[in-house]
Amino acid sequence: MSLAKMPSALRAGGMNSIEKSPHVTLPALLEMKRTGKPISALTAYDYASARIVDEAGIDLILVGDSLAMVVMGHENTLSITVDEMLHHTRAVRRAVQRALVVADMPFGSYHGSVESAVTNAVRFIKEAGAEAVKIEGPRTEIVRAMVDAEVPVIGHLGLTPQSVNRMGGFRVQAKTANTADQLRRDAAKLAEVGAAAIVLEGIPREVAARITAESPIPTIGIGAGPECDGQILVLHDLLNLSFQPKAKFARRYADVANIMTEAIQHYRADVVQKAFPSDEESYHLSSSELEGLVRREAGTVRRRA
Ligand code: KIV
Repeated sequence: MSLAKMPSALRAGGMNSIEKSPHVTLPALLEMKRTGKPISALTAYDYASARIVDEAGIDLILVGDSLAMVVMGHENTLSITVDEMLHHTRAVRRAVQRALVVADMPFGSYHGSVESAVTNAVRFIKEAGAEAVKIEGPRTEIVRAMVDAEVPVIGHLGLTPQSVNRMGGFRVQAKTANTADQLRRDAAKLAEVGAAAIVLEGIPREVAARITAESPIPTIGIGAGPECDGQILVLHDLLNLSFQPKAKFARRYADVANIMTEAIQHYRADVVQKAFPSDEESYHLSSSELEGLVRREAGTVRRRA
């Protein structure tokens, strides 16, 4: 890695020096589970936010299909396409040095034949530089085929947003002993066929804790309680940029919407009052060029007279 491309926090050394923070790999996540070190994960969808997330030391960055909602303004995640997800994954890839980059496969891209699912998954690795893909549901045949094709897969169980129509909304899942047991079996099967980790979303803490205890692979929770091996949030929820009512689990760490609004209102007021730009924010002619310009203008005035 050239020094120029190195994140500023790494260039500066200290806690995040490159020796202490090597690139996060899938085996490293497994080791974190083994040693009880919590995995931090967040979504990111563009170069600027991905750089900030990466340089803050987050272990796993998911280019989530939640971008359909928080970036594109759709009601749910269903309409986002493979090409759109690839476009955002490439931007994130260019920004990230340390975190593991995972791309969400969108609705419809792994719901046909196993062959087409593998072909689509390979595109995320080959064309966008993702290091793993994430797919929703207990799709064991597809996970096995992707893993056989050298595409690492992260599973996603519980409240799977691409099933919004079947679920009749974004609802907490596995709330009965029967459905909790089914989810435990699904998680075990995903691990058996080679999934590298499992996102557990919108399920009771007690269920996630049991799955985490019995799973050989890391669990990463969102609305699944504190016992999971790691936690993930949608970046826009954490920053108050999602324009949605706050979900129970989505702790807001900053009000970036308010910070942006204040900055933009300040800028507008400066423009309206002609307080921006200042002389220091303007480019200038050199004094000799300025003198030449003034002489020419004076000559023009004399010729006209
Ligand atoms: O798309 C997404 O952001 C996700 C996370 C909620 C896990 O799948």
